[in-house]
Amino acid sequence: MKLTFFVILLIVIIKSVSSQVLCLFAQVNGLYTCTATIINPLGLNNFTQVEGIHFTGGTDEDVVRIERNAVSNTLNFPSIFCNQFGNTESIIIDNIGIERIDENAFADCRDLEYLLLQSNRLREIHENAFSENLQLSILDLSNNQLIRLPGNLFRNQINLYFLQLASNQLQELPSDIFNQLSELGMLNLDSNQLQDLPEGIFDNLPNLYYLSFSFNQIVKLRENLIDKLYSIQNFLAPFNQIIYIPRNFFDGNPYLSSIIISGNNLTILELNPIPMLSDFWFEHNQINAIDERIFNNVTLRSLNGGPNPCADRNGIISNPTNDDIRAALHRCFDNFNPIETTTTPGEEITKPTTEPNGCEVGNIEERICQLEAENAELRARLEYLEKIVLGR
Ligand SMILES: *[C@@H]1O[C@H](CO)[C@@H](O)[C@H](O)[C@H]1NC(C)=O
Ligand SMILES: *[C@@H]1O[C@H](CO)[C@@H](O)[C@H](O)[C@H]1NC(C)=O
Ligand SMILES: *[C@@H]1O[C@H](CO)[C@@H](O)[C@H](O)[C@H]1NC(C)=O
Repeated sequence: MKLTFFVILLIVIIKSVSSQVLCLFAQVNGLYTCTATIINPLGLNNFTQVEGIHFTGGTDEDVVRIERNAVSNTLNFPSIFCNQFGNTESIIIDNIGIERIDENAFADCRDLEYLLLQSNRLREIHENAFSENLQLSILDLSNNQLIRLPGNLFRNQINLYFLQLASNQLQELPSDIFNQLSELGMLNLDSNQLQDLPEGIFDNLPNLYYLSFSFNQIVKLRENLIDKLYSIQNFLAPFNQIIYIPRNFFDGNPYLSSIIISGNNLTILELNPIPMLSDFWFEHNQINAIDERIFNNVTLRSLNGGPNPCADRNGIISNPTNDDIRAALHRCFDNFNPIETTTTPGEEITKPTTEPNGCEVGNIEERICQLEAENAELRARLEYLEKIVLGR
């Protein structure tokens, strides 16, 4: 009874104030956090104070994390938050109806590392929105309504590691949009409306190891598209309308291990050898011929090759032997006599010609070691994201 009364009172108070920004302060997993209620349906940005009562001893400077209260409803993220809580490292403001990011929204959060903006109604982002956030490491803009992005939006994101742009309505990308992202490890462009990936778009991503653009409308892959993705391990392009992959398309990618090109319009698969190929999925295409030499001297972890005109539906085959490959795909080959794998761990592979900054080239073990370290770092970061930032 009493509780109901208070809830009603609270709703009356919230409704009677047209715009409001306030914090509930608390220690969450050792991080002094502002749980923000932002009621700002007009998208005002002239607030002078975020209300709220600190914990004993706590000050505005102690706040390192801002997380939205689910009752929030706002068209923007008022810049008063970063004005007042300048030491904030994580901002989690998903699912509260944000439609635009103003120029100065995050400008005063110089230490910002994690910014989660997914599942809003973002249509516009000011080109200077992130210009002061040099520490930004994880940025999630997925599940919004972005149609285009300013070409220089990420010009200062020299520390960005994870960029999530999936499930928007992006129709095109400026060719220089990722040019400064020298630390980027993962890029997700899934479920947009991209018809083209312009010349040079991935030319300055020496550390990218995961690229996914599933569920777009890409028809042609430019011959040099991923030539400079020296570190790429996972190439995911399923469910586009790709009609052809040039034979030398993967030649500049010595560490590539997963190629997922299912659900496209490929009719033929003729690729140069891919030494570390491990997962290879190309079911649901129109493939009627494969150059069998792709299976020479590789040890697959998984294969999914059918249905295709030359292969029956066969699902994912784990650790396929040459006999398994022959059984699954025999109608795709003229002749199938794969050379068995001769690689032994630690063996030298052909020296790649390109060398990213600070990356030791040569001994394959060194490189695998380095990639494992990077993966461990990603796991640690994602764990942090799940457990602390998302409070799970
Ligand atoms: C902010 O702008 C709105 C609309 O222009 C105005 O009604 C309101 O009084 C302003 N608030 C402050 C604190 O200046
Ligand atoms: C790809 O195949 C689908 C279904 O078979 C078809 O609707 C589409 O037009 C094809 N696209 C291209 C570019 O050939
Ligand atoms: C198999 O691959 C290894 C390492 O990639 C290479 O050194 C070797 O020459 C290859 N063997 C054949 C027969 O292609």
